Amino acid sequence: MKNLVTYFSLTGNTKKIAEAIYEALPEPKELKKMDGIKSVEDYDLIFVGFPVHSHSVPYPVEAFLRHLPAEQKVALFMTHGSIPGTRLSRQALEQALVLAGKARILGTYTSRGQVSPEAMEILSRSPEHELWAEMAVTARHHPDQNDLDDARAFAHWILSLAAQPG
Ligand SMILES: Cc1cc2nc3c(=O)[nH]c(=O)nc-3n(C[C@H](O)[C@H](O)[C@H](O)COP(=O)(O)O)c2cc1C
Repeated sequence: MKNLVTYFSLTGNTKKIAEAIYEALPEPKELKKMDGIKSVEDYDLIFVGFPVHSHSVPYPVEAFLRHLPAEQKVALFMTHGSIPGTRLSRQALEQALVLAGKARILGTYTSRGQVSPEAMEILSRSPEHELWAEMAVTARHHPDQNDLDDARAFAHWILSLAAQPG
């Protein structure tokens, strides 16, 4: 079974999670940035990772998810600055599940990811983002060691699901 871990990451948080998942997988496996992917035909299982941008899936990831083949085994992982479970992060995951609708989604993993000082500065300028910016403060230091351990455990769990018939 050939495994692919692919990700979109602007400030490195999603990349860290991708690397942890990759480490946990058996060979044959590949770790690739999303923009370097021409075709996914060779892979039995694909882990797809992205950050939340403005409550949504970033555009390049949207296009990638939309074009996943029907019945392709896929696991999603996502990083976000906001508190888990709030609309600010949940909405993007729900959107990703709809976009990848034709694929067989085996599971999802989300982790908080520190918000870069540049993004914090821009976001805190607009009043609508004030509360969001307050939440994002506690995302600093993430993903941490526990988040990476969870990502590895997630990878093992998904592998066991992918190995089941049907
Ligand atoms: C332009 C921009 C918009 C963001 N919007 C959100 C958001 O709506 N909700 C949220 O939870 N986090 C938001 N974040 C925080 C990122 O999702 C978080 O820091 C993520 O871990 C970044 O991943 P990366 O380092 O892989 O790019 C935003 C970050 C940026 C740069």
